[in-house]
Amino acid sequence: MRRPVIAANWKMHKTTGETRDFITQFVPLVEDVQDVEIVIAPPFTSLAVAAKFLKGSNVKLAAQNLFWEEKGAFTGEISPIMLRDVECEYVIVGHSERRQYFGETDETVNKRVRAAHQAGLKVILCIGETLEERESGKTFDVLKTQLSGGLKEIDAPDMLVIAYEPVWAIGTGKTATPEQAQEAHQFIREQLSGIYGAQEAQKIRILYGGSVKPENVASLMSQEDVDGGLVGGASLKPDSFAEIVKNAIKEA
Ligand code: 13P
Repeated sequence: MRRPVIAANWKMHKTTGETRDFITQFVPLVEDVQDVEIVIAPPFTSLAVAAKFLKGSNVKLAAQNLFWEEKGAFTGEISPIMLRDVECEYVIVGHSERRQYFGETDETVNKRVRAAHQAGLKVILCIGETLEERESGKTFDVLKTQLSGGLKEIDAPDMLVIAYEPVWAIGTGKTATPEQAQEAHQFIREQLSGIYGAQEAQKIRILYGGSVKPENVASLMSQEDVDGGLVGGASLKPDSFAEIVKNAIKEA
């Protein structure tokens, strides 16, 4: 069985002090959880302090983005090696907010995935359709294009987690129904199977993201191909994020 992942994407929230306070409250709440892989993605400025306070815990560290070069004259960018240096195990790539506001394309997403893997970072690759795309029946086309583009010549499926985040469900309080999530996740797994073979595709965790809350995570997780969640707003409070983690434990 695939081990569920629950990941917090804090987006542009929390100072270093707030990060320290969150972690010192959160870690004891989940210290007994073994059946869920827990990941937190703070902003870059909080990564070092997060690494320090997460040490020895069962919570892993992720960054929210990276640049694909190792070093050089790229003002404002952060390299894969710098993320390894602050003990990140994961990095989120291709979030819809980056695609929407910062010009991210499948090509640049692919460069980031490649660079992350080369540096030994696991990738949480985000894909998902807008409302307009869903309403015009293009959901599967969009998912297929984002997957094949983002994963071009990426040959380490064991270093890969996919996050299906329908753009219309992000920060809107409008969650996909468990059936809508399952339909998309099943399609994604079929695509992964075409790329990596059925056996590898069965091992890749596919997370759902978009208004995940303590109250709806269990019904989403009850679906066969939903292997976890990527949580924005509801990951900002220790109690609520800990509840999501606990409610995500799948019935055997
Ligand atoms: P919300 O949980 O706030 O809808 O955000 C989802 C998301 O974008 C996680 O990456």
